[in-house]
Amino acid sequence: MTVILEAEGVSKIYGKGENSILAVDDVSLSVRRNEMLLIMGPSGSGKTTLLSIMGCILHPTSGEVRIEGKAVTGLHEDALPDIRKQYFGFVFQAFNLFPSLRAVENVELVLRLKKTDKTGIRAEALELLKKVGLGKRSHFYPADMSGGEKQRVAFARALAGDPPIIMADEPTANLDSRTGQDVLKLLRDMSEESHKGIVIVSHDPKAEALAHRVVFLEDGRIRS
Ligand SMILES: Nc1ncnc2c1ncn2[C@@H]1O[C@H](COP(=O)(O)OP(=O)(O)O)[C@@H](O)[C@H]1O
Ligand SMILES: [Mg+2]
Repeated sequence: MTVILEAEGVSKIYGKGENSILAVDDVSLSVRRNEMLLIMGPSGSGKTTLLSIMGCILHPTSGEVRIEGKAVTGLHEDALPDIRKQYFGFVFQAFNLFPSLRAVENVELVLRLKKTDKTGIRAEALELLKKVGLGKRSHFYPADMSGGEKQRVAFARALAGDPPIIMADEPTANLDSRTGQDVLKLLRDMSEESHKGIVIVSHDPKAEALAHRVVFLEDGRIRS
């Protein structure tokens, strides 16, 4: 199985001097296409920091991140938004939907950002919503949707532009158990069917049962 995303010897120190915190400590980790990798660990163990570094949102203090074998860590800050656009879909714990936009418009926004060919964007957004089971809710505003439905919109948005990597930080934290299970299953199926590398951070035992591989973080290090 091909590796799509790698961290090698990645560390992150927040702050300086006495108040500095070693949030991630010399972590090496690779993510393959076709796999859903779960990162578990107690609160404060560095999961979100590691996910942000691997997702090219945050620079590591040291170490390297590679996408398809190419180092991105040495690149200029200006290059990172394009890399995120090309390779990543993100799902965060807070759904981050625009309240003034309908579900379909929330998805369209990302498609507009990611695609050079702007034709057929409405149809594509509707197709993505259908895929996450929201075909009939596409014209709803976030305020009129349940937590699970909003999370599905967030997933449709993460899938927009068909990125090869999806990063999800505690995607089921605000969902009831049933919906959480559905969302996790959707992610796992996507890794297998669409050959995506999926990294999720979760404390959810259901995630553990569905993931292809689990790593545990403790005090910023991978427990072996
Ligand atoms: N922006 C930040 N500035 C300073 N310290 C931070 C920042 N973000 C996280 N931390 C600290 O880094 C450590 C790891 O945090 P985080 O990656 O959020 O862990 P987790 O997601 O596992 O809860 C914690 O001690 C946290 O307080
Ligand atoms: Mg976190």
